[in-house]
Amino acid sequence: MTNVVVVGTQWGDEGKGKVVDMLTEYADLVVRYQGGNNAGHTLVVNGEQTICHLIPSGILHKGKRCLIGNGLVVDPEVLLGEMEELRSKGVEITPENLSLSEKAHIIMPYHRAIDLAREEAKGKKKLGTTGRGIGPCYEDKVARVGIRAIDMTEPDTLSEKIKVNLEEKNFYLTEFLNSEPLDYDSIYESYLRMGEILKPYIRDVSLEIEKAILKGKRILFEGAQGTHLDVDHGTYPYVTSSNPVAGTACSGAGIGPDKLNHINGIVKAYTTRVGAGPFPTELNDETGDYIQERGAEFGATTGRRRRCGWLDMVLIKDSIRLNGLNSISITKLDVLSGLKKIKICVEYELDGERVGSRPASLKRLSRCKPVYEELPGWDQDISSVRSWDELPDETKRYLLRIQELSGIPISIVSVGPMREQTIILSNPFTGGP
Ligand code: GDP
Ligand code: IMO
Ligand code: MG
Repeated sequence: MTNVVVVGTQWGDEGKGKVVDMLTEYADLVVRYQGGNNAGHTLVVNGEQTICHLIPSGILHKGKRCLIGNGLVVDPEVLLGEMEELRSKGVEITPENLSLSEKAHIIMPYHRAIDLAREEAKGKKKLGTTGRGIGPCYEDKVARVGIRAIDMTEPDTLSEKIKVNLEEKNFYLTEFLNSEPLDYDSIYESYLRMGEILKPYIRDVSLEIEKAILKGKRILFEGAQGTHLDVDHGTYPYVTSSNPVAGTACSGAGIGPDKLNHINGIVKAYTTRVGAGPFPTELNDETGDYIQERGAEFGATTGRRRRCGWLDMVLIKDSIRLNGLNSISITKLDVLSGLKKIKICVEYELDGERVGSRPASLKRLSRCKPVYEELPGWDQDISSVRSWDELPDETKRYLLRIQELSGIPISIVSVGPMREQTIILSNPFTGGP
């Protein structure tokens, strides 16, 4: 029995979707445990691109079960749209291969409206959220007024909860945010209808995972966002509203920590960030543009241009500690081909002193200057390389230095967006190549 967690170590978009799709071959169940449709996980299989926002990235594999855990906030309209889109591509979506936890919280139209109106009101100080209602939905969960998937299957409960919420939300929207009020009837009718369609999918995900584990099945847990977007451990307040760290695989799926056997952290070979917030190694120059263009760094959810910079090992070392990583996967290594020199930030300099961990204070962080190590780059196109031995010496040197600084092994190297553009050094499920 091996259960593996795949988690982002930076600010999201590390290539988690690709790695999860690739590792699904070795798993029986794939479980998302937090976040919502702020996530955009890209899979490229047989030349065709699929972007998963809510449905686990294992969905393209026949015969594997994909579960949406209680830790997510689910926009039912988006979920149904994603199911339809997959069907239009010939992927069968039925309760046989997809379940939604009855305890997952539901994103309502007022969550989206509040998210957008707040961002607008903040003007230049906005967080750059995805505008999908993620934060306001998690707020309601914690405030104990949220609507859960199971409530969509009980008309009375749904009606009552929408009424109570709308009274407060409409007051807030109109009186504080200068926005439009929302109408009860249309929300109730549409959520009741979506609840009817989703009913066969709404299950006890925690119980199913327990049964699967008892039968010796292998589970792959898929994180969304990244460690430095974590609401506790990230660059607060420039974070998302959930805990992407690996520990959430337990609370967000309904299992105990004893069930997690291997935590794999996804490390993009450089750093990117969408939305606002601090970014010590950001490159506002032609090297940044080069990486942005070669890496096609545009958001998979909002289409926004991603900010780019050098690999920041201070972030990665924090992630190793915060997630208890056993190994790392390096993605998008092919993007760096053609650079004469490649830099790795190994520490920060703060007010004349060296620091090896990201300070919590944004004021202190803004004074941090990256301390770089410079390595030689390589010219060769490595996107068709399939083994360690075929990699250019300079590429190996870059990887070995990352491994050395990490103190944990690199298990997977990704050299392109396609499933097969992967070098497995040590499979997190089997331990073998
Ligand atoms: P996620 O949110 O962590 O799943 O990552 P995204 O899907 O948002 O962003 C990663 C992007 O890089 C997607 O467009 C992927 O298709 C692409 N990608 C993933 N791995 C590689 C790689 O090794 N090389 C290149 N060139 N692209 C990759
Ligand atoms: P995946 O799973 C990158 C960012 C947003 C914004 C901040 C808060 O694809 O890696 P939110 O809508 O969550 O309240 O926005 O978090 N963000 C992401 N950035 N990848 C993601 O997901 C993200 N999900 C949220 O851009 O800065
Ligand atoms: Mg993404």
